[in-house]
Amino acid sequence: MYILAPSLLAADFSILGEQIRETENLGAEYLHIDVMDGVFVPSISFGMPLIKSIREVSSQFFDVHLMIVDPIRYIKDFAECGADGITFHLEAAEDVDAVIDRIHEFGLKAGLSIKPGTPVEAVYPYLNKVEMILIMSVEPGFGGQAFMPEAYDRIRQLRKYIDENEMPVKIEVDGGVGKKNVRDIIEAGTDICVAGSAVFKKRSICENISSFMEAFQEYNKE
Ligand code: DX5
Ligand code: ZN
Repeated sequence: MYILAPSLLAADFSILGEQIRETENLGAEYLHIDVMDGVFVPSISFGMPLIKSIREVSSQFFDVHLMIVDPIRYIKDFAECGADGITFHLEAAEDVDAVIDRIHEFGLKAGLSIKPGTPVEAVYPYLNKVEMILIMSVEPGFGGQAFMPEAYDRIRQLRKYIDENEMPVKIEVDGGVGKKNVRDIIEAGTDICVAGSAVFKKRSICENISSFMEAFQEYNKE
């Protein structure tokens, strides 16, 4: 089963609650929440208070993507404000095992993310501990960037390794995912598609999400 994770960053913040509910009603099981600190990435997005207030309007799986340095400092705060899963960057953590353990201490799912320049092999030592690997298909920091085609081989490589070793780890892909490339992204081995602009911009949220759901159904039948 494939999952759509609309990325909040591209939503209209003046009607945030309404838009979140719409994505949930249309079948998006996850809500992808990008937290940026202005240090790990150039931009600053939002933090705990926002997540706490949207927790009231949604039952979706809150998929928090931390683009912050030294993420262990904030695991407790994000757990307490309503995260269901926390994904942090391999490049940002001094002790990756300690961050994973901390996320699990709070009963949350742990995800590990790599930027486009980090070799896929770098996550192998942690695959027996995490629930998800997030492969970035753009340089993290901003929504609306073009999907980097190099990501396909990276997804395939990870899919192959996970399958060969029979590991129950999900693959999530984030950055430039849209209705034009979603099938290729699924075929490469992705389980969870993050999409910001492709959900909240251009056409209506309803039309946008329907395009993803149609694609997912084609593969779910197989
Ligand atoms: C980028 C973020 C993404 C971003 C995706 O650093 O991690 O989640 O919001 O946006 P689109 O889908 O527009 O590329
Ligand atoms: Zn993200």
